[in-house]
Amino acid sequence: MRVLVTGGAGYIGSHTVVSLLESGHEVEVVDSFVNSKPSAIRRIEEITGRAVPAHSVDLRDRAAVSGLLADGRFDGVIHLAALKAVGESMQEPLAYYDNNLGSTYSLLQAMAEHDVRTFVFSSSATVYGAKAPVPYREDFEPLESSSPYGQTKVMIERVLEDVAVADPEWRIALLRYFNPVGAHESGLIGEDPQGVPNNLVPFIAQVAVGRREKLSIYGGDYPTEDGTCERDYIHVSDVAAGHVAALEHLVASAPQVRAWNLGSGTGTSVLQMIKAFERACGRELPYEIVDRRPGDLAAFWADPTRANAELGWAATRTVDDMCADTWRWQSANPTGFPD
Ligand code: UD1
Repeated sequence: MRVLVTGGAGYIGSHTVVSLLESGHEVEVVDSFVNSKPSAIRRIEEITGRAVPAHSVDLRDRAAVSGLLADGRFDGVIHLAALKAVGESMQEPLAYYDNNLGSTYSLLQAMAEHDVRTFVFSSSATVYGAKAPVPYREDFEPLESSSPYGQTKVMIERVLEDVAVADPEWRIALLRYFNPVGAHESGLIGEDPQGVPNNLVPFIAQVAVGRREKLSIYGGDYPTEDGTCERDYIHVSDVAAGHVAALEHLVASAPQVRAWNLGSGTGTSVLQMIKAFERACGRELPYEIVDRRPGDLAAFWADPTRANAELGWAATRTVDDMCADTWRWQSANPTGFPD
């Protein structure tokens, strides 16, 4: 298939582009490059030996998006472009609603205009909110999220359901990621957060490489086995493979809009993650336990049964693989992608 990947220079996007190319698809990228660098595209080309056309476009620019999709150039779109920092979304909700919703509307309108109706959407486990029973299952309702970032994911899922009701030719996958971590096994691409990392594994990696003094563990008194929060960490290359599986399933099936969890089905605590990273980098990592971070849930993980059964997809890489690959990327690229 000829696939347009929005946000294809970003963390999950770059790994997804590699997986698509390795599965024989043709790929172009559109990215605003506000949170990513063009050198990520060059690294993808180095890994795959293929040229990857990349367009620098803000998706809210309707004319530009329509131009990209013109002339029947694409069979489907994988939409990962979005702002994604939870804390920042609390400070700047309008920027998040404007960017994440506006870019999606513009993209969907251009797709309909040019008769492209196969769409894979980057959603998140955050849509299950605080009340869903663990493990999370796709049929849980009502969806809700505690942050504007998460609300944009809930709202876009709803928009896509309405689009599919109005025009039943759409084929739409809602991929609810759990906690993607790790890096490509080559060490050439990985997560490159701008500023202080918000998420656990990028922070640990920067402590390991000497960019940060120590990790703060947010809370040691949760009702979990060791008192720290548990999450369903999933290797980013498994997440990438999930996109390819979803796309191929969509085109092989009747039109539908359907959600799939991309998770492993197991929880790992913050302390267990630190220990795994210490095995990967070969030294002890300094940490202290501090207050809980507001909004954090004690423990959640996926029920991945639906994706296993319907997409023929399952997470295959272990927590040790995730840490070893993150360490390979971080130690070879201590300050992230080159400019
Ligand atoms: C976060 C977002 C979620 C988003 C996901 C993307 C919040 C509340 N949730 O999930 O909406 O989809 O990232 O990957 O931000 N931790 C520490 N010290 C740190 C950083 C994290 O102890 O410096 C702990 C957290 O308390 C949490 C665990 O590590 O228990 C994982 O945190 P993080 O990587 O930020 O992911 P989530 O909070 O699960």
